Amino acid sequence: SARERNLAKLLSTRLPQHMLHMLHRAGELGDRLQVSVYAVGGFVRDIMLSRPAVEFDDVDLVVEGDGIAFARALAQELGGRVREHRTFMTALIIYHDENGEEQRLDVATARLEYYKYPAALPTVELSSIKMDLFRRDFTINAMALRLNKGQFGCLVDFFGGQSDIQRKTIRIIHALSFVEDPTRIIRAVRFEQRYGFHISTQGEKLIKNALSLNLVEKLSGARILHELNLIFREDEPETCLRRLNELGVLAAIHPSLVLNADKNELLDSLREVIDWYRLLYFKETPELSTLYLMALCSAVPAIETADILHRLGLTPTMREEILSLRESVRMTLVELINWHRDTQKKGQAEQSVSRLCALLAPLPLESTLYLMARSDNEEISSSVSQYIYKWRQIKVDINGDDLHRLGLEPGPQFGSVMRMVLAAKLDGKAETREAQLKLAEELIRKGFPGNGTAGAAPKKPR
Ligand code: CTP
Repeated sequence: SARERNLAKLLSTRLPQHMLHMLHRAGELGDRLQVSVYAVGGFVRDIMLSRPAVEFDDVDLVVEGDGIAFARALAQELGGRVREHRTFMTALIIYHDENGEEQRLDVATARLEYYKYPAALPTVELSSIKMDLFRRDFTINAMALRLNKGQFGCLVDFFGGQSDIQRKTIRIIHALSFVEDPTRIIRAVRFEQRYGFHISTQGEKLIKNALSLNLVEKLSGARILHELNLIFREDEPETCLRRLNELGVLAAIHPSLVLNADKNELLDSLREVIDWYRLLYFKETPELSTLYLMALCSAVPAIETADILHRLGLTPTMREEILSLRESVRMTLVELINWHRDTQKKGQAEQSVSRLCALLAPLPLESTLYLMARSDNEEISSSVSQYIYKWRQIKVDINGDDLHRLGLEPGPQFGSVMRMVLAAKLDGKAETREAQLKLAEELIRKGFPGNGTAGAAPKKPR
């Protein structure tokens, strides 16, 4: 039905070399094994949407024939290995490209006997690739590219995916789509917001219909959480969450998840904080799920929060963890307000940095970032940000050997001396190694608060 369009040129300009090479080899192997091979799904969509090439990390192939046999042969050619899933007739190829980077390739089988017809649909004669595409979620995700030689790059578009991309529309393929898989409601919103598209009018009606049939209520917590986690990884999770809220999806997941003005504001500042943190390029990355779940449960009482987290399939341990993170953020905020007040008093300001660091050091990264997002005091937020990008990284310039040489026996006192030296460095009172050695010596000689004894035992002569 669709006009034949060949995307071979687009592929060669937009794909990394190794991927293009792999697609050609898959097509040539298809010729040899006399099966049709297609690249399908999100890969085709993103090629047509001109997304940057870095995003093409996973490719899905569909084979009209024995997908597993095809995957084995392709893995051999690529020097990779295969993980087979016999029940679904799918396989995962894991191989290394020319640059030695690990690549993954999903291979599925399209065979008419694998499709159980939804009873309510009219029986029509379909080819197996068409049936495979028909079973998918949205028209923009239901296009394929032929890979066999001679037809390499030919677009297969039975359901108008191409024109829906032009019209910026998320359109479902058949009316039972959300009944078959209600997680698609959340996916629809994710694609809509990611690409700045619109869910079609019919799509919105079917979402309303699915909600009134309580289909979201019937989904398992784990499946919902999986979809939410994908949203948390989007560039603008808050826009997806607002749309889910507006459609009544959040309420269907749990009534206490609904957004209000405070949560909306928190979601915005959380995203700013996360974007800010990303630009620092630190190795450690925060658990987005923890951050966003805390924001979505903001100001919801503990028992209800536990209930939400239970609904999302979190284990008791994970529920406890989020609740206790939230509690520690709440308590630390109170202490930060005291700290801030004290720093404005004379005399106390001198220890301001070390005191702040002592308050924040026990918190995991997620709590610190959440704290930044939650604080409405500019100066506190800015101090917490300095803690994250600067003070947290500061180390003392002396080590255990130095303390040993100064006559301190290894033991808990080592840690106490180091902490006090670090505090002095943070407060600008012992910036050089010499100054730190001098301070350590004084502390060891005079004894120091916190070590429990007046003066440490001097090292015994050997
Ligand atoms: N799919 C579907 N219904 C679902 C999940 C997936 O029909 N509930 C189909 C879609 O055709 C989709 C393909 O499986 O394109 C691959 O799914 P997935 O990897 O989850 O999504 P992508 O489209 O690749 O999207 P993303 O860019 O988020 O990876």
